[in-house]
Amino acid sequence: MFKRIPGTRDFLPEDVYSWQEIERISREIFSVYNYKEIRSPLIEDAFLFTRSLGESTELVQKQMFLISGRGEDSYALRPEGTASIVRSYIENNLDRTAKFAKFYYIGPMFRRERPQKGRLRQFHHIGCEAIGSGSANLDIEVISLADSLLRGFSVEGYIIRLNSLGCPKDKKALAETLRKKLKGRISQTCEDCRRRFDTNVLRVLDCKRKECKEITAGLDIGDSYLCAFCREHFRRVKDGLDSLGVKYEDAPRLVRGLDYYTRTVFEITHKDLGAQDAIGAGGRYDNLVKELGGPDLGAMGFAFGVERVLLVRSAKAKPQEKNLVYLITLGEKAAAAGASLLGQLRESGIASETDYEARSIKGAMRLANDLGARFVLILGDDELKKQVVALKDMQSGKQEEVALDTIIGKLRDIIRD
Ligand code: HAM
Repeated sequence: MFKRIPGTRDFLPEDVYSWQEIERISREIFSVYNYKEIRSPLIEDAFLFTRSLGESTELVQKQMFLISGRGEDSYALRPEGTASIVRSYIENNLDRTAKFAKFYYIGPMFRRERPQKGRLRQFHHIGCEAIGSGSANLDIEVISLADSLLRGFSVEGYIIRLNSLGCPKDKKALAETLRKKLKGRISQTCEDCRRRFDTNVLRVLDCKRKECKEITAGLDIGDSYLCAFCREHFRRVKDGLDSLGVKYEDAPRLVRGLDYYTRTVFEITHKDLGAQDAIGAGGRYDNLVKELGGPDLGAMGFAFGVERVLLVRSAKAKPQEKNLVYLITLGEKAAAAGASLLGQLRESGIASETDYEARSIKGAMRLANDLGARFVLILGDDELKKQVVALKDMQSGKQEEVALDTIIGKLRDIIRD
């Protein structure tokens, strides 16, 4: 018996209904905000991620699925979408056609993490990236788009947590402040945090261990590390969100786990998720396009974890096929005529199914019922002689004979109503 790899999931048809609904709503809302879909490969040059996400990040250090090519670790299964989209934007010279471009994407991501509730090794992102603007108006749009999507998905009780890391200079100042404040207590933190203190001190704020959390929760970080420009930018973002009625909380300790972030960062949490409480997250990455060899352009985006959205969603999607027609044929001649009727039904766009096993009428009716068929068509030798078919409405229980050459039109009319 083969088993699925830990940290991967099978989505069975009943789960896929909800999934498709989330996708449909996303596509509708993204298109209302004028975002266009982009699809990039699942494998990329591993160095793209090292360069974009940061060498010392947890993701690059421990979580990338590397694929060896000719003795070298050269490819990686993409752990996130932003770096790939920026690569694609630059490689396809999209800045030459439209400096400001808005993309959305839906697809699998891979991280070698320890699997637990809401934490998978193959999971899925619904995300967007808007490249080509440093304006606070973009931050406001992107955050309100995330809010709009969650409302569209019927998710309630989420919290948008907001912070600004400032420009690279401010980020350095923030790291310095943090180093100073942590210095006296770093020996009380975990081994990872002691390492982070030297390599990437902002990561200490992300640590989930109790002893480290207690220490960082007591730190007064303030916002004095922000320069006047970034402070003003952040004020505009908040004012804009206030005037749109998008609710958020200030989160001075929110730094995000990837190095490319600058200025506005946000995370959306939900209490029902437990330890892995982020449904989605994002922020500005104003230096990444340039860093990867493109023009100097501001950009911002976010991504939701689809599996986590599904965990906190109150509405459950119903099966999408409400008007299934189930055809039962009795006898060999009727079976041949039935095959042609089934073909015509499907050609006409009417969802239909039949019994492949020549069951008794009772057995076939039971199957139609189990499948949730709305109509059953019964075609036996008698009906065939009269060139009719028996049509049973499974909701009302009514049965009538309908001429074979008018049945498709009749079904179409009922279904359309
Ligand atoms: P991220 O915070 O690493 O950001 O991932 C975004 C979301 O993906 C998380 O909030 C979470 O819901 C989901 N997620 C992450 N890892 C897992 C996992 N192992 N299992 C299940 N769900 C997971 C990014 O990836 C950025 N690229 C977001 C972004 C786009 N920033 C700017 N643009």
